[in-house]
Amino acid sequence: MRQTLRTGAAWAALGLAGSAALAPAAMAQEANLVIDGEIEIVTRAPAPEHMEYISEIFSGWEYRSPETQALQMDDFENPGMIGVDNARADFETAMGPDDQSCASCHDSPEALEACARSIPNGTRPRGEVQTLEMQVNECVTERAGAEPWDYTGNRMTEMVALISSVSRGMPVDVAIDGPAQETWEQGKEIYYTRYGQLELACANCHEDNYDNMIRADHLSQGQINGFPTYRLKNGKLNAVHDRFKGCVRDTRAETFAPGSPEFVALELYVASRGNGLSVEGPSVRN
Ligand code: HEC
Ligand code: HEC
Repeated sequence: MRQTLRTGAAWAALGLAGSAALAPAAMAQEANLVIDGEIEIVTRAPAPEHMEYISEIFSGWEYRSPETQALQMDDFENPGMIGVDNARADFETAMGPDDQSCASCHDSPEALEACARSIPNGTRPRGEVQTLEMQVNECVTERAGAEPWDYTGNRMTEMVALISSVSRGMPVDVAIDGPAQETWEQGKEIYYTRYGQLELACANCHEDNYDNMIRADHLSQGQINGFPTYRLKNGKLNAVHDRFKGCVRDTRAETFAPGSPEFVALELYVASRGNGLSVEGPSVRN
């Protein structure tokens, strides 16, 4: 499955510095992520056993500038927390024919504590791997009888950020075996497939070249434990599938749709590469 780089042309097209120019600046600082002096986040961990080519995993937080890192250490500074507050209000908003809100059935967001750690989840009775967005929409449509929310719309992404925020600090622990295995294999296949004119796979950037500079960006391992992420670049919370879409587009390829089975499978696989890191969404990235 492993492919080595065939040509430097794609890298040149992207302005990627060779590994001789490798600058491990952020890693050298050995900063620790503790939010509000309280929630300890594991941003480095031994790689899960299923990963053959990497021995240590790192949260994307490790690769950001000290200024961006600091924003995530204080919930008042973290712009993503505004979305979390919006969702907290929305949690009480009545919907559907019986005027039910999330709170009618779940009491408080804290009642959903821990469910973000095992997302995407393949062990639920539904017989399919479900992302948090799918679970929320299952409640919105089938339980409350309302119209589905847009998969990567603000309302959904803010709700996912809220559910993630109450799990912060807990270790990501996504199941990849049993009913999840087939989907996981599919996601792994996508991760190592080269797409687009540039013929680049996720792995070419996030496995072979993390810690290198690509244009002005310090390449991370492309982990998703920090999602949704508040990006300073677009000034909003970003859903996992929107990030995937952006990365696929950068290879000048046609992308899969947010919420598609392909992106759900990819999410499961990428999430499993972060098993052992902490849930840290909403994170702050550039
Ligand atoms: C009419 C009742 C009802 C409403 C309204 C409702 N839910 Fe649910 N929700 C449930 C039930 C029942 C489950 C399944 C519980 C289980 O499997 O343990 C569930 C499961 C979930 C799960 C997965 C929990 C887990 O532990 O894996 C999430 C996340 C969730 N709901 C979020 C929401 C959100 C967000 C809203 C509001 C937008 C909402 N729900 C509205 C009844 C409801
Ligand atoms: C051409 C190189 C390239 C390819 C190929 C690529 N990415 Fe990325 N990706 C980037 C860059 C640059 C960033 C921004 C810096 C960073 O966080 O690594 C990024 C960021 C990310 C992030 C955000 C990480 C965080 O902590 O916020 C995720 C997740 C991600 N990529 C996943 C993927 C997946 C999945 C694929 C394959 C479909 C992929 N990327 C393909 C270059 C690439």
